[in-house]
Amino acid sequence: MTNFSWPQVDGLAYGGDYNPEQWPRETWREDVALMREAGVNLVSVGIFSWAMLEPREGEYDFSWMDELLDLLHEHGIAADLATPTVAPPAWFYANHPDARVIDKDGLVVGPGSRGMASHSHPAYQEACVRISRRLAERYADHPAVVMWHVHNEYGVPVGEDYSPAAVAAWREWLKARYGSLDGLNQAWGTMFWGQVYGEWEHVGAPAKTATTGNPAQQLDFMRFTDDQLRACFSREKAAIREFATQPVTTNFMAHQSWNCDLWKWAELVDVVADDHYLWAPDPEAHVALALSADLTRSVARGRPWILMEHSTSAVNWQGRNVAKRPGEMRRNALTHLGRGADAIMFFQWRASRSGAEKFHSAMVPHAGPRSRVFREVVELGGHLADLAPVKGSEVRAEAAVLYDWESLWAQDLEWRPSDDVQFRERMRAFYERLWRDNVTVDFALPTHDLSAYKLVVAPASYLLTKDGAENLTRYVEGGGTLLVNFFSGIVDENEAVHAGGFLAPLKDALGVTVEEFLPLREGEGASVRWARGEETLLPADVWQEDIQLHGAEVVAEHISGPGAGKPAVTRHERGAGVGWYVGTRLDVRSLAPVFEAAYADAGIVPDRLPEDLEVVTRHGDGEDFVVAVNHADAPARLPLAGTDLLTGAVADGDLEIPAGGVAVVRRPGGAIA
Ligand code: GLA
Repeated sequence: MTNFSWPQVDGLAYGGDYNPEQWPRETWREDVALMREAGVNLVSVGIFSWAMLEPREGEYDFSWMDELLDLLHEHGIAADLATPTVAPPAWFYANHPDARVIDKDGLVVGPGSRGMASHSHPAYQEACVRISRRLAERYADHPAVVMWHVHNEYGVPVGEDYSPAAVAAWREWLKARYGSLDGLNQAWGTMFWGQVYGEWEHVGAPAKTATTGNPAQQLDFMRFTDDQLRACFSREKAAIREFATQPVTTNFMAHQSWNCDLWKWAELVDVVADDHYLWAPDPEAHVALALSADLTRSVARGRPWILMEHSTSAVNWQGRNVAKRPGEMRRNALTHLGRGADAIMFFQWRASRSGAEKFHSAMVPHAGPRSRVFREVVELGGHLADLAPVKGSEVRAEAAVLYDWESLWAQDLEWRPSDDVQFRERMRAFYERLWRDNVTVDFALPTHDLSAYKLVVAPASYLLTKDGAENLTRYVEGGGTLLVNFFSGIVDENEAVHAGGFLAPLKDALGVTVEEFLPLREGEGASVRWARGEETLLPADVWQEDIQLHGAEVVAEHISGPGAGKPAVTRHERGAGVGWYVGTRLDVRSLAPVFEAAYADAGIVPDRLPEDLEVVTRHGDGEDFVVAVNHADAPARLPLAGTDLLTGAVADGDLEIPAGGVAVVRRPGGAIA
């Protein structure tokens, strides 16, 4: 973030999306009274209101928004005012049919739902700037407006666009990137399958092809899409800035986002905001929540961030929409807080009676305020008031996990050595190992300054540039411990295999290269013999490979499968540091001894805490706030002294956290025990 600024709200922010245009005025009055009761101090308004603010092209009606903002202000509730550009009105599609998005299969995306029009069409771009400017001009000085919420979740439901407008912009983007067709042909390796281009007009978007398309072209199209989406944000932000000074944000989706490289997006917003929803099929969805929160804080470069949306209970868009059980919402909200959020918001304030999301939970459910959910919403509001001293404190991490959206885009293209190797699956497994060991992590790019971290973990660095690899090598030589998973260091920024073969750029850091991949058949299991300390067999699956040693020691070897007898895990001392390499798929449990050994090299001593007790510390000025979340069905004990801000109870070195409970303990700065 270039200019960090926080919305003007007292204490922590609490609230949610508010869509009162769906309700009569008497409900508005009930809403503000209930918001007061719940301690709500911030609501996001106008996100889907374009058709109500500009009923016909160029004709505006701000009367209801005037009334709404006045009402909120009278009741001491601040507004995060949105630009409504994620839901163009029906007139937009009727007046500008050629601004409709075309999908990869060539189908036109019509109105009647939500989702932006073509990010590259001048009519959509101009209409977005117009409505943003009108809103900013009118409300820049409204006392209720403390923040601007541009658009909604860029990248979904519309990201890639294959319309003529997008293809024209794509060609310009390619000309700027490569300068000449020779440069493009070289970068895309178009000699393969005779794809060489002789005219710019012949270069198309990677739409549907007979079989697998050019991977470098597809990767560039992801980069282009991300650039176009960011340009949309920047245009709207600039329009707001002509009149208004409040912080401007847009809501990310961290680990759930696909189209947006959030390292770049975070540079554009004044404060980072994120949406997170639990994925019901995941029985340990709270681990994914923690990952998402850490990733959000990391792209925010450690600054406080806004949890812009999560749910009070079930969502409506999964196959089976599992309701949160009593206490779960609090655990979720306070985990986000523990990992750096200074604002806790929901989608949405009041459940909609009509439309596609009527079965989505809300702060005020269909059952009304006399409901379990609303009682928990009020209780959480009370907690957040008590937690105001936490505001502005920071999370510190000794370890970093490498997370690069370009590598995600590239790795998950078609025709890979094994369908079972997935970026997100490996990211989760490695993160979960660290989570279970209570090692707090930041996320980082391979090119970042990593020198402050004792341990750097690379679960899925398939695309690794020469610069990134050199930085990692310097990190090891300077005394760092690097732990790299298989299928890393494979291709460069053009999706071309590195000269010298697989893993060649990390040869010095890890003391190994890979001669050949030996993926396993679906469902085929194997084991590796771990020969460091106590000899054990660790289950492994999916992947083996023919590792060539260049100075590394073998720490584990395959005992069956095509790689039987070959190295599976290696350790290499280089300069003042150590490079670890894992050449097979180990699950969270099998990863334990590998991480334990890497922690020892790194000088990290994890706190040995009960399984399923999540503990993370926010560091303030001379004091710490230890957020302890008990995910287990039984009480857990934590050796901790201080005052639980949620209950006022004073712990003298032995804190009991009830089953499913949370404590936020304020104590002088220091270590946990
Ligand atoms: C997203 C959107 C919201 C709403 C929720 C439902 O996060 O931003 O408008 O649709 O999902 O979970």
